[in-house]
Amino acid sequence: MTVNYSTTQSGAPVVSDAHAQSVGADGAIILTDHYLVEKLAQFNRERVPERVVHAKGGGAFGVFKTTEDVSKYTKAALFQPDTETEMLIRFSSVAGENGSPDTWRDPRGFAIKFYTSEGNYDLVGNNTPVFFIRDGIKFPDFIHSQKRLPGSHLRDSDMQWDFWTLSPESAHQVTWLMGDRGLPKTWRHMQGYGSHTYQWINAEGERFWVKYHFHTNQGVENLTGEEAERIAGENADYYIQDLYESIEEGSFPSWDLFVQVMPYEDAKTYRYNPFDLTKTWSKKDYPLIKVGTMELNRNPENYFAQIEQAAFAPSNFVPGIAASPDKMLQARIFSYADAHRYRVGTNHAQLPVNAPKSEVRNYSQDGSGRIHFNSPSTPVYAPNSAGGPAAVEPATVGGGWENDGELTLAAHSLHAEDGDFVQPGILYREVFDDAERARFLTTIAGAVSGVKREDIKERAIQYWTNVDAGLGAKLRAELGK
Ligand code: HEM
Repeated sequence: MTVNYSTTQSGAPVVSDAHAQSVGADGAIILTDHYLVEKLAQFNRERVPERVVHAKGGGAFGVFKTTEDVSKYTKAALFQPDTETEMLIRFSSVAGENGSPDTWRDPRGFAIKFYTSEGNYDLVGNNTPVFFIRDGIKFPDFIHSQKRLPGSHLRDSDMQWDFWTLSPESAHQVTWLMGDRGLPKTWRHMQGYGSHTYQWINAEGERFWVKYHFHTNQGVENLTGEEAERIAGENADYYIQDLYESIEEGSFPSWDLFVQVMPYEDAKTYRYNPFDLTKTWSKKDYPLIKVGTMELNRNPENYFAQIEQAAFAPSNFVPGIAASPDKMLQARIFSYADAHRYRVGTNHAQLPVNAPKSEVRNYSQDGSGRIHFNSPSTPVYAPNSAGGPAAVEPATVGGGWENDGELTLAAHSLHAEDGDFVQPGILYREVFDDAERARFLTTIAGAVSGVKREDIKERAIQYWTNVDAGLGAKLRAELGK
């Protein structure tokens, strides 16, 4: 017998890789052929549920190097000068199922897991600095409107535009999405954003509000609508292939990380509510500060084990980084780890791709798929008098803020220049050039022309009129043609 013989899952030699046991050459197969049973049963269980959103994606491993000194803003170990941290990134599309074309117009996910010396820090962002809604309670409704009708199982322009036009806070993100950057040429050619406002805390305990911006060193490049449609038909896995082959060829994509930093007290009086995820902060008010560079240099060896089972959670913070009053972020802090318990399993954090490089010490035990356990001499409860792990005093993680006392169902408080159509109007008039404005009109006219109900179509024209009166008039003319 060669040393490389195949085995059952329990390690015993397999009798045959090619033939099920049967009663004579043409007779019935038998239930005692446990290897056949094991093989078919394992196969039936190969798929785990796909992610409820961001199902289609791909990723790679790399290194983040902090090249600048931002220690006056955060004590996080990974952001101290010259620190190198291993990381994983997963890029994705939001609405399509696993297997859907990479080049459909959609925001792209930009999810990073930093394996830091103080535990895993996950920054689960997108290629857009803003989002469609500002309250997590709307997220399931928003996603339902972008996915499929229950009866026909078709995607539907009416429900997309019905939701968007009844949710005016979506205007900034929809303007972004329908612009040129809504169709990146590849994942390597797009920017990434943490999108939310997060909190940084320095060694003295001072607090700051931050926004993350990853700038691609490949340059921002986009596809036209026609190119994206053609590629969608030719190669559904266009982005996955591009990333995989670039890394295989030794052409390692990289991004520089910048942050905008807002002093803690400024948040109270800034002209926009700085915790509203539908708004950006002016770079004139809060300029970009460089932190370091991320380079992707290693492909996964097994897509399922390392990418499909990867579990990124906005609740994974490390000392020096914390949440903010952003209500969307707080909803996400619950949602992801809950999704992982369902999608990957109770002990998803123990899988190699999700496990931190630092030691895990706590009293959690059991659950399906358990791999790691404490030594039998470690007590199973806390507090204990047997020297088991205990929380650091004073607490090093955390980072709070003052809260209003009243229980309320209100949206984020309004600041002087808040308004759902202010920033999309600026994006359309001041950031887009003439050519992009023309392409933008073609894109929204194409999207709205798929709406069947006249009242929703009329609302869509009003939505764009609110963004820019001239744009609304052009759209009406375009749709009348
Ligand atoms: C994936 C929920 C908003 C970026 C997911 C998943 C859930 C979810 C349940 C699947 C997780 C998994 O199975 O592993 C929500 C909720 C939101 C929200 C409830 C609003 C309250 C956002 C926002 C962003 C974002 C604002 C970006 C700024 C992503 C990304 C993924 C994802 C990138 C894919 C992560 C991966 O590659 O595994 N979201 N999401 N989501 N979400 Fe969200």
